Amino acid sequence: MNRIFSGVQPTGNLHLGNYLGAIRNWVLLQKEFECIYCVVDLHAITQEQDPKVLRAATREVAAGLIAAGIDPKRNILFNQSQVPAHAELAWVFNCVARLGWLNRMTQFKEKAGKNRENASVGLYDYPVLMAADILVHKATHVPVGEDQKQHLELTRDIAQAFNSQFGVSFFPLPEPQIFGEATRVMSLRDGTKKMSKSDASEYSRINMTDDADAIAQKIRKAKTDPEPLPSEPAGLETRPEAANLVGIYAALAGKTAIEVLAEHGGAQFSAFKQALVDLSVAVLGPIGAEMKRLTADPGYVDAVLRDGAERARASAAPVLREVYDIVGFLRP
Ligand code: TYM
Repeated sequence: MNRIFSGVQPTGNLHLGNYLGAIRNWVLLQKEFECIYCVVDLHAITQEQDPKVLRAATREVAAGLIAAGIDPKRNILFNQSQVPAHAELAWVFNCVARLGWLNRMTQFKEKAGKNRENASVGLYDYPVLMAADILVHKATHVPVGEDQKQHLELTRDIAQAFNSQFGVSFFPLPEPQIFGEATRVMSLRDGTKKMSKSDASEYSRINMTDDADAIAQKIRKAKTDPEPLPSEPAGLETRPEAANLVGIYAALAGKTAIEVLAEHGGAQFSAFKQALVDLSVAVLGPIGAEMKRLTADPGYVDAVLRDGAERARASAAPVLREVYDIVGFLRP
């Protein structure tokens, strides 16, 4: 039986990259598989957070997942800090993972920036906690955007190292599921940079709560080049901004880039951008509205997370218990 696990950080706004690269795929997968989706608040504090803002963002992200179509009855939806087994398994994995492996993590280098000595130990250890998130539920598949690929490789390395150190075949080696036309959505201001919550420019990203006017403004201001759209994907190779907008359009329309270019090849950006505005508003408008409605009802969101956490604790407890046995800890 395939078991799906994935997570999203409650830092900043959910944006189109989160939606197209991950959340939309989570919604598709719930039809077929047992899915566990987590708002990773423990990961959020690897960089400084205002406690009030973190609490609000945790609820807002949970609301976003529900608004996007995740059914919290059918799946387990919870916030990480309510399930201590994640942090407990992370400790065991800290003693399995090697410094050399973590030193290779590109996301740490990006996030720590120039002042690496001043980064938190948690930020460095972040991928180990991520491995624990996945493996404490013995998940087999992990739907993520492309930027998480290296962390998934590390998860597999940790699972394998644990199995071999203790001579067991206990943990599965989870597979990343990176699919769709927008596995790496780029900034609207710079087609070579990932769309990200931490970009200083609001114009670099479309947030899931943006209204029609904001979406239209951001797309109209998006960087492009002076050429019309090509009629085949090969024509996008040296045009990162054009490629990004075509990828976004394709993902939102549920089409391939080939189909989009067959339709819009030869069009000027002014016309294509208008089509993209209309499509974005049609897809994101209802989700954003529902998200705002749910966010205004924190009692409901909290109840969903509480129920999810209870089921997540039940899923994680036997796995952690067995790990403790394998490692050689005395039972209470
Ligand atoms: P986070 O919160 O940065 O992003 C959540 C999901 O959105 C995807 N994503 C993107 N996809 C396409 N284009 C983009 N520009 C873009 N930006 C973000 C991410 O790939 C991710 O799938 N480390 C994870 C959270 C995490 C996790 C886990 C994920 C913690 N534990 C266990 C999977 C399994 C993160 O920071 O995601």
